[in-house]
Amino acid sequence: MPELKMAEAPAVKPAAAPVLAVQDLQAWYGESHILHGINFHVNAGEVVTLLGRNGAGKTTTLKSVMGIIGKRSGSIRFENQDIIRASSDRIARMGIAFCPEERGIFASLDVRENLLLPPTVRPGGLSLDQIFDLFPNLKERLTSQGTKLSGGEQQMLAIARILRTGARFLMLDEPTEGLAPVIIQQIGHTIARLKSEGFTILLVEQNFRFASTVADRYYIVEHGKVIDGFANSELSANMDKLHTYLGV
Ligand SMILES: Nc1ncnc2c1ncn2[C@@H]1O[C@H](COP(=O)(O)OP(=O)(O)OP(=O)(O)O)[C@@H](O)[C@H]1O
Ligand SMILES: [Mg+2]
Repeated sequence: MPELKMAEAPAVKPAAAPVLAVQDLQAWYGESHILHGINFHVNAGEVVTLLGRNGAGKTTTLKSVMGIIGKRSGSIRFENQDIIRASSDRIARMGIAFCPEERGIFASLDVRENLLLPPTVRPGGLSLDQIFDLFPNLKERLTSQGTKLSGGEQQMLAIARILRTGARFLMLDEPTEGLAPVIIQQIGHTIARLKSEGFTILLVEQNFRFASTVADRYYIVEHGKVIDGFANSELSANMDKLHTYLGV
């Protein structure tokens, strides 16, 4: 009897899972229910931007991913692991870093000390030389105290610090806030360079003009929900809607 041969399955390349996938995320500050169902994802190597008005829940979303919001529910998957109940420590060790809006520079320490402080969470963190290559200004300001730095220098130092840790998934909360146009442009170049070096970036921005120079995709956050999303290539078709959402 002839041997029965199984038909071979056609070779289908599975679609890569997103690096970060957030589904029905809800979050509370004490009794205040702030996030009511946040859904979005970020693919490897993308720059994804959360847009929305003041108080919409953008920062709370980043803090929820970082595990620094007391009460949260839903699903947050990072590299295919559910991290909704993980400690912020463990989340950091998985390679997620958060650069807060207030930047968190130690005022009494100088630039070098600020750079040497962050713990290494994984191998591959940038060396001081690599940091200075990315931010030449910081090298010139090495012995300046945190308080003496300009807003732009503080922002660069804040980004530099998270790059020291070895994290490859960066969450930047309004990095351009309060900065002069020429500095905003530098931050834009930095983000583009990090993307070209394989970092994945989740950005929160009020400055839509800036976001449009770096983002691959956008999500709109309103009243604790993601209400819309589109790719940068669909931007012009969505401009009217966007103005309505953002009230600009
Ligand atoms: N620590 C807190 N305790 C209680 N409520 C808070 C706290 N932080 C933020 N909120 C409230 O949560 C809501 C969402 O705030 P969140 O900071 O996430 O907004 P956002 O979209 O980042 O706004 P912005 O653009 O102003 O930074 C707001 O109503 C805010 O007042
Ligand atoms: Mg915010």
